[in-house]
Amino acid sequence: MASIAVCPGSFDPITYGHLDIIRRGAKVFDQLYVVVLNNSSKQPLFSVDERIDLIKEVTKDLPNVKVDEFSGLLVEYAQSVNANAIIRGLRAVSDFEYEMQITSMNRVLNESIETFFIMTNNQYSFLSSSIVKEVAKYDGNISSLVPSTVEKALHQKFKK
Ligand code: PNS
Repeated sequence: MASIAVCPGSFDPITYGHLDIIRRGAKVFDQLYVVVLNNSSKQPLFSVDERIDLIKEVTKDLPNVKVDEFSGLLVEYAQSVNANAIIRGLRAVSDFEYEMQITSMNRVLNESIETFFIMTNNQYSFLSSSIVKEVAKYDGNISSLVPSTVEKALHQKFKK
């Protein structure tokens, strides 16, 4: 039986930190669905379609990665693609409480879906989409933080 996992997030936009988790997750599972979901506490900069296009572009060399979107609960999406695993990246202790809350809620909603954490590569432990947007907004150098397609898309967004 193929092992299928879901890597969920807002991906607004995808960074090298996300990409690192996706690449490493894709080595462990036969099929990895990267899914753009709605985080009700965030106001996205990029539309869902824009985020999807950027993720597709930067994961096109990974044959077992599929990119998708969903507007409902993560566990419902996981069930719809027969995934029994969720992958999340963990950067620092500060992520722990938030991740624990999401993981516990997902387990209450569907206990047959297990969440796995991948420790972020040290070089990306400070990295977040929010910090990248902040730097891009003021025209700072983000070339070591996001792939060039994403860098271009960010500069386009903040072009005056
Ligand atoms: O990248 P993010 O913003 O930390 O990802 C959070 C996300 C989108 C995975 C989370 O908000 C989510 O799962 N949203 C879908 C709605 C859902 O299933 N909520 C219940 C678990 S909190």
